[in-house]
Amino acid sequence: MQLAGKKVLITGGTRGIGKCIINELVDQGVSHIAVIARDKKNIKLLSEQHENVKFIKIVGDIANIDVLREAAARIEDKWGHLDLLINNAGIVSAGPLEELPDEELYDQVAVNLTAVLLLTKYCIPLLKTSGEGGILNISSGLGLIGMPFYAVYSAAKAGVKQFSDAMRRELAPDNIWVTCSFPTATDTEMMQKFKGMEMDSPEMVAKKSLEALLKKQPHVIFGGDDRINENILNFEQPLKLDEKILKNYEDRKSASLDHKAL
Ligand SMILES: NC(=O)c1ccc[n+]([C@@H]2O[C@H](COP(=O)([O-])OP(=O)(O)OC[C@H]3O[C@@H](n4cnc5c(N)ncnc54)[C@H](OP(=O)(O)O)[C@@H]3O)[C@@H](O)[C@H]2O)c1
Repeated sequence: MQLAGKKVLITGGTRGIGKCIINELVDQGVSHIAVIARDKKNIKLLSEQHENVKFIKIVGDIANIDVLREAAARIEDKWGHLDLLINNAGIVSAGPLEELPDEELYDQVAVNLTAVLLLTKYCIPLLKTSGEGGILNISSGLGLIGMPFYAVYSAAKAGVKQFSDAMRRELAPDNIWVTCSFPTATDTEMMQKFKGMEMDSPEMVAKKSLEALLKKQPHVIFGGDDRINENILNFEQPLKLDEKILKNYEDRKSASLDHKAL
């Protein structure tokens, strides 16, 4: 799969990993990009940074079903089809489940999972007319290993993983590929309130996630061998991983308390 000339829809391309994905798309010859984000000012800045790109700018919250329907309708109207859908936008609110405000529980599922399912649904007819369509879903390492104090975020991101696998199998006859990316801690605004951890760069995560899509890899998992080994341990000997996590339970809890990016 080549990127040049493709028409792309991305959620949350104004900051962090999504912004780096857009930089990479433009470097590789993409000149038609539809972007959905809530902050109008950042969408305007993005279009000023990439003067040669024709943007479809959708200002809105992806938790709002009308915003997702409007995005698909505007793409159909302007382009008639879509080549790549990148479900990137995400939010997090960590801490013990019993202390999590109900609204923040609901919003994390709506933005991190429901919006991915609905936007994909609305884009399938547009992707089918591409001839060579692709979907890149940004999940998380926590979508592979459920972590304490990130129960809701982990659940939503695990949903993205299962959805990606299911849709890759469902859309294979239509020549639409689906890749799911599993970043570990990455240095973006989402992690501003998270203390004490080495982080990947968003540029690297963006580049490798797109590479995986172009090479038609089902998954790209960040965090190196340690993360791969933890995933194997989680699958084969979950009780051993439980013991490991319990050893720094209190540190994990206190680090999570202030971790909100909504
Ligand atoms: N950073 C990490 O350590 C990390 C690790 C694993 C996975 N991830 C995942 O990677 C993806 C990108 O994260 P990031 O770190 O780049 O986040 P970020 O820096 O906080 O950027 C989030 C982007 O999503 C948009 N967005 C957020 N909520 C939205 C909503 N309700 N409707 C529309 N747009 C919305 C934001 O724009 P507006 O605020 O203007 O709407 C922004 O463009 C997310 O799915 C995240 O869960 C991140």
